[in-house]
Amino acid sequence: MAGLEKKKEQVRILVTGGAGYIGSHVVKALGEKGYDVLTYDNLSSGNRWAVLHGDLIVTDLADKNALKKAIHDYKPDAVMHFAAHIIVPESVREPLKYYQNNTVNTLNLLDVMRDEGVKRVIFSSTAAVYGLPEEMPVSENALLLPINPYGTSKMMTERILKDLSSAYDDFRYVSLRYFNVAGADAQGRIGQAYKKSTHLITRALKTAKGEFEKLQIFGTDYPTPDGTGIRDYIHVDDIADAHLSALEYLIQGGESDVFNCGYGHGYSVKEVVETAKRVTGVDFPVEDTGRREGDTPILIADSSKIRRQLNWKPKYDDLEYIIKTAWEWEKRK
Ligand code: UFG
Repeated sequence: MAGLEKKKEQVRILVTGGAGYIGSHVVKALGEKGYDVLTYDNLSSGNRWAVLHGDLIVTDLADKNALKKAIHDYKPDAVMHFAAHIIVPESVREPLKYYQNNTVNTLNLLDVMRDEGVKRVIFSSTAAVYGLPEEMPVSENALLLPINPYGTSKMMTERILKDLSSAYDDFRYVSLRYFNVAGADAQGRIGQAYKKSTHLITRALKTAKGEFEKLQIFGTDYPTPDGTGIRDYIHVDDIADAHLSALEYLIQGGESDVFNCGYGHGYSVKEVVETAKRVTGVDFPVEDTGRREGDTPILIADSSKIRRQLNWKPKYDDLEYIIKTAWEWEKRK
């Protein structure tokens, strides 16, 4: 497929879930680079104030007519698709909710994109597609064997994208498999604002703030040096930058592909807790509890592919900085 011959300010990007945590940081980055952006979000977990650039359409992806009208009127050159449910333990309890929103609604989107001639999509996938990978760091070639409905719902979408790109020569996608996204805008304008957030860094900071009595550590008997789970925590602005790289790649006519988004090393729950205590100056209570269902012991990205092929150069590979920005944000709320 030939590249797109347009100036940045003429390149139109429709962002589903652009009012959410990661989506809003990408909308910010797109706006700062001068792209034309339109956010499509039902505000179920996102917020109007988080959309720093472009207009916002408040509708659901399940409303295919509204979606068709939005895409028909806006005529995006590419879609970035963030809108999804993202809580692993919730997906274990309510699998249909996940398949409906993450898989079926994505089908709606792809169907409408096809009808309206939109040929490029950047998809928010996840490290949860790997399940319990045999090799760590895990590369994009590893088998996809998710161990929870969240991961499966995303894996199914990846499969649909792959089949579409095989069927239609002019359809291109990039799937970005996020590892553990954390941190907030350095200027404190946007950050994780989902009230029900179960993510470790957010929970730790809310505990430091006194919103929770204690932080639970889910499992201290994992086969890791200190017994707690290890994750590859990546700053949300570096994730946003990966989307810009993926977009430029597709605009230049790049082939469909899949990339891990992580730094390539990890921290244990205990290391995160220690850093959170240091950054906040609060020695908040911590309780060791049993393992949480659906959790993987270790997830670390082999990120060499995205660094090599998309020339992605992360700027914030520093747990302390990640937690500091998240803490500044948390204190403002
Ligand atoms: N954890 C605790 N206590 C808490 C919360 C989390 O001990 O209160 C532990 C978890 O057991 C895990 C680690 O902290 O070991 C990270 O857990 P999170 O809930 O912060 O994140 P997950 O790794 O479960 O999932 C996140 C995203 C997924 C993504 C995955 C990729 O929610 O979308 O990272 O690694 F797929």
